[in-house]
Amino acid sequence: MSSIEDVTIHGPHGPIPIRVYDPGEPSGAALLWAHGGGFRHGDLDMRESDMVAAEISRRAGALVVAVGYRLAVGGVRHPVPVDDVHAAWQWMTGKYQPVTAGIGGASAGAALALASALRSRDENERDGGGWDENERGDVVRDGGARDGGGRAPDTILLAYPFLHFPNPGPYEHGVEEMVRNYVGRISDVPADAFPGHARLEGLPPVHVLLSENDHLRPSGELIVRQLHEAGVAATVFVAAGTAHGHLNRPLEDTGVAESLEFLAAGLARGRRRWIRRDGPPRIEFGADYNPEQWPPETWPEDVRLMREAGVTVVSLGIFSWARLEPAEGQWDFGWLDEVMDLLHSHGILVDLATPTASPPPWLTRRHPEILPVDRHGHTVGPGARQHWRPTSPVFREHALRLVRAVATRYGGHPALTAWHISNELGCHNVYDFSDDAAVAFRSWLRDRYRTLDALNHAWGTAFWSQRYGDWAEILPPRLLGGAGNPTQALDFKRFSSDALRDHLRAERAVLRELTPDVPVTTNFMVAGPINEMDYADWASGVDFVANDHYVRPGPQARDELSFSANLTGNIAGGRPWFLMEHSTGAVNWQPVNVPKRRGELARDSLTHVAHGADGVCFFQWRQSRAGAEKYHSAMLPHGGVSSAVFRDVADLGARLAALSAVSGLSRTRASAAILVDADSWWAAEQDSHPTSRLDYRGEALNWYSTFLDLGVRADVVPAGGDWSGYRLVVAPILHVVPQRLRDRLENYVHGGGHLLATYFSGTVDENDHLWPGGYPGALRDLLGVRVEEFAPLLDGETVTLSDGTAATVWTERVTVTDPAVEVLLTYPDGGPAVTRRALRAGSAAYTSCVLPADGRKPVLDDLLRRAGVSSELPVALRGRVEPAVRGPVWFLINRTDEPVDLADVDGATGELPARGVVVLL
Ligand code: GAL
Repeated sequence: MSSIEDVTIHGPHGPIPIRVYDPGEPSGAALLWAHGGGFRHGDLDMRESDMVAAEISRRAGALVVAVGYRLAVGGVRHPVPVDDVHAAWQWMTGKYQPVTAGIGGASAGAALALASALRSRDENERDGGGWDENERGDVVRDGGARDGGGRAPDTILLAYPFLHFPNPGPYEHGVEEMVRNYVGRISDVPADAFPGHARLEGLPPVHVLLSENDHLRPSGELIVRQLHEAGVAATVFVAAGTAHGHLNRPLEDTGVAESLEFLAAGLARGRRRWIRRDGPPRIEFGADYNPEQWPPETWPEDVRLMREAGVTVVSLGIFSWARLEPAEGQWDFGWLDEVMDLLHSHGILVDLATPTASPPPWLTRRHPEILPVDRHGHTVGPGARQHWRPTSPVFREHALRLVRAVATRYGGHPALTAWHISNELGCHNVYDFSDDAAVAFRSWLRDRYRTLDALNHAWGTAFWSQRYGDWAEILPPRLLGGAGNPTQALDFKRFSSDALRDHLRAERAVLRELTPDVPVTTNFMVAGPINEMDYADWASGVDFVANDHYVRPGPQARDELSFSANLTGNIAGGRPWFLMEHSTGAVNWQPVNVPKRRGELARDSLTHVAHGADGVCFFQWRQSRAGAEKYHSAMLPHGGVSSAVFRDVADLGARLAALSAVSGLSRTRASAAILVDADSWWAAEQDSHPTSRLDYRGEALNWYSTFLDLGVRADVVPAGGDWSGYRLVVAPILHVVPQRLRDRLENYVHGGGHLLATYFSGTVDENDHLWPGGYPGALRDLLGVRVEEFAPLLDGETVTLSDGTAATVWTERVTVTDPAVEVLLTYPDGGPAVTRRALRAGSAAYTSCVLPADGRKPVLDDLLRRAGVSSELPVALRGRVEPAVRGPVWFLINRTDEPVDLADVDGATGELPARGVVVLL
């Protein structure tokens, strides 16, 4: 039963009237709608409000909330109407928690809607978004709402929008008067009032309805071009024969019904957070498929065996540039047409690559200036892959030309399920010291610092006579005769990550322009020691997160796999993500390439699923006969179908098919978290530090292993995200603590959170300048300790602590400055080694040394107990089994090489085999 109800909500300027159109059978979509009227006319009864809201609600089966914002009359001006619309947005998304949430408006209402969407985007970018619990106790995305923000929209609808001043059309007195009335002036109009002047990156798809005969039409046309340039998907519909404000006409009038249909369809589409496909939910299964390495006769057999193994999706064409464009401007698409059709005819989806990862020989011969240059000035030769400078304008031009050609050809192919941009951006070319890089680095620095004075201050160039008097004097940190400037080095890392992210955005902009409905991803490398790309920062640039992970042998190999999968899941905001590559057995690029033991193939895959992967793919489908990766394992190995690996692969395919109930479920938040931070990782391991033995990732991973040893779930979360809801947060080597992070940590502890920070935390600010007054700088007061000297240990040297365990690598000379601090462990001279300061409800603990595993375990156990966090596992399973939870589904992963008795586990029976995984559906 549908209903329409008038409600009053509260906003920052007092009550706001709204009208709620409930379709009765909700589709999970909701729209906030703002009528037009030049900011000074209109109400909830006008057709552009009432009829439009009712019709969109009916056509999309969506809940629609029309907002009667304050008009710019009687002294009311900007930002009051935007504040009202934004308050209504926060109310609607908070109350209904829709699956797809859209915002839209007509004419002036479109400006209000877009301004509110930009506010949500900014709040999310600032706060990172995060997780919260709703009234029912479900864990839901809160989009950073803790700091007063709101959920970002999934789609935006703009009807004949009025977004720019001056209007990019002929002069009109009436337009100017509207602006003066709304803003109070006609110069220096804020972007929040006319958001056509705002930064538009990071918005969801926008659907723009234009009236054919409209003096404001140029504003709508301009916003579409601006959105495309900003990499935002935008679709346009021109309602033929209509004038500005045509949604105020009766439904039967020319173009009105078509316009409403366009808006309703835009709402229904929302932002795709997953690959595009029909049919019931499932976990996708597949591989990189490189048919160009094989004669066409092999392809039908490939596809037949893929079906046999349960393959549902392949990533295609990743390294096919030279084959698709054998000479500049000459295209050979025939073979790819055939493969796409073949896969489609067998029901296999294609995640099609923009094949820009490996430029062909003709390009590097003609344009050697695209080749990267190392820190020594050596040019990287062609002949491997990724031999291109992220900042080369020449490479960018050729790459985007290729992307355009591929997207034009295959954008409408029914097999296409997603775009796979390039491949592992930064795998081989992240640090480039070329002249192109120097130019781009300077421009990045100008954006960051604006003035040379600010840069000189940030870089501390008073030291060693490094002061810059001209931007042109600044270079990337090339080969140096001595220790370089640490802030320059840190900024170069930040810049290098951003340069690759910009390449991602540039390819994405072409794809969004040509195929706005096809989701875009790229394969991250959240794995092992790889830290060059700040993926927490990149994640908002893809429609869904994809990751590649390869096991590196060693005692913590599987803890590391779980750590990376866990972090990937949190980078994805808890939403499902795609494991784009891992291996069925040995890789080829380690010094010794060991195969997986029986059971490990399934256990590794299912551990990723346990942490949120809804796609499980391998590199690659058929093991190569030639090339550098011919000894790398594959789904179909050299040994063929009658091999243990192929049998394991097919078994895994069947097992994943039976787990379709898991797909779509978000990760369930743990009670504890470990913070990871790109800046801290980069800065803490710079040279000329107290020791070169410091291992950022090792410290974070060690704490993760300790959680696993205790049988307690912990999330691995980016420090920029929202971790305020965890009961206990471990901050390993949180070295870079800017003022805002300092405030967040203090608020967290004062609000009842329990923090454990380790040595070398809080030491520097965002410029890598020491916080004055002694270590741990920004955290000194919070922790109630003061460190005057770091005292790193020589290789092999240990220091025995008061519990008999032996610290290595790092110690500090600590004094307690607050009487509330309890000393948990001491050094041999009685000095504090591990401390805990209790506040009213929270606490702040500190470990000043590298604790061994047997030292970490009792410390963490104690802190967890005092924070009220306990293991969810029966005692007999703790340490032996890793627990992971997605909604109602529990995963128990055997960490050992022995079977584990499941007698004490509700809903399970028998034994969990060595290296096995049980999924409790
Ligand atoms: C990845 C890459 C693949 C393949 C694989 C081998 O880095 O994306 O193309 O090279 O490693 O492990």
